[in-house]
Amino acid sequence: MDLTTNYLGLTLKNPVMPGASPLVDSLDNVRRLEDAGAAAIVMHSLFEEQITSQQLAEFAHTEMPAESFGEATSYFPQMEDYALGPDRYLEQIAKIKSMVEIPVIGSLNGTTLGGWTDHARLIEQAGADALELNVYYIATDPDETGAEVEQRTLDILEAVKDTVKIPIAVKLSPFFSSLGSFGKQLDAAGAAGLILFNRFYQPDIDIEELEVLQRLDLSTAAELRLRLRWAAILHGHLNASIAVSGGIHSVEDVVKAIMCGASAVQTVSSLLKNGPAHIGSLIQGVRHWLEDHEYESVAQMCGSMSLQHCPDPSIFERANYLKVLQLWKV
Ligand SMILES: Cc1cc2nc3c(=O)[nH]c(=O)nc-3n(C[C@H](O)[C@H](O)[C@H](O)COP(=O)(O)O)c2cc1C
Repeated sequence: MDLTTNYLGLTLKNPVMPGASPLVDSLDNVRRLEDAGAAAIVMHSLFEEQITSQQLAEFAHTEMPAESFGEATSYFPQMEDYALGPDRYLEQIAKIKSMVEIPVIGSLNGTTLGGWTDHARLIEQAGADALELNVYYIATDPDETGAEVEQRTLDILEAVKDTVKIPIAVKLSPFFSSLGSFGKQLDAAGAAGLILFNRFYQPDIDIEELEVLQRLDLSTAAELRLRLRWAAILHGHLNASIAVSGGIHSVEDVVKAIMCGASAVQTVSSLLKNGPAHIGSLIQGVRHWLEDHEYESVAQMCGSMSLQHCPDPSIFERANYLKVLQLWKV
């Protein structure tokens, strides 16, 4: 069975990898993931805020009196809140790169155009084979237009692209009014891949204490469907590869994502719940599923249920909405 897949121009031995998460802050976990057959290692993100906070601290150390330094940095998250600071992040990439044979994908996470994007070069120099660019942005300013949000993301991509030769995948949110058009613009700007999607951690409200609560719930497979729909819509329109991230828990979830057009899938919640070895069960399960269903390769299955190829494309469109509402009988 040929499980290989082309993702970001890299040939991967299979389509299943861990998504960006703290799992790989531990080298033991990296070893377990590779032993279980992971196709690549995706690093935890290095955040713009960490980089600018370090730059501010360096500036303050040389240019500002000690008392104003304390006040200035109090606006930023403390460096120790992050598992790996910018320097240790680069060391971690180099260590992982020296211990594994599979590709290592760095992750830069930020929202503004600025000096932090230069860190892409350091991540490349540390040995990363590719880079994820996560522009996790919540447009809270009602005067900011969608076009401005999209343009800034394109500008960030171009700034990062100017600094590195390795392929770049953009990890997107689903909240764009015309994701197909924006996906094509990212493709034209040189994104080697689109990752569908960032998972937005929605705050809750404590109605007694009048507090906003921070929650991190792991995903369920129900979240996969949004990704399936958009992979199916985008498949065939881009040179960039598509990866699905969000709601991949079982073998069937992996199969669905590939059928809709993903050339790779990423999973985090399932590994945090079941441990790194779970990735091995997913990969072996996909192999058996393909054999049982008489496929020859992952490539043969990729996109077979996309909008262009599935028997009833209307199911991905407005017609599905109309039909589905009529299914509920009271
Ligand atoms: C604890 C935790 C930490 C995460 N850290 C990052 C991160 O640093 N960068 C990033 O792009 N995504 C991060 N993610 C998001 C995951 O990569 C992934 O997109 C999301 O969890 C959806 O996949 P899942 O349903 O398999 O969990 C994190 C997720 C979790 C649960």
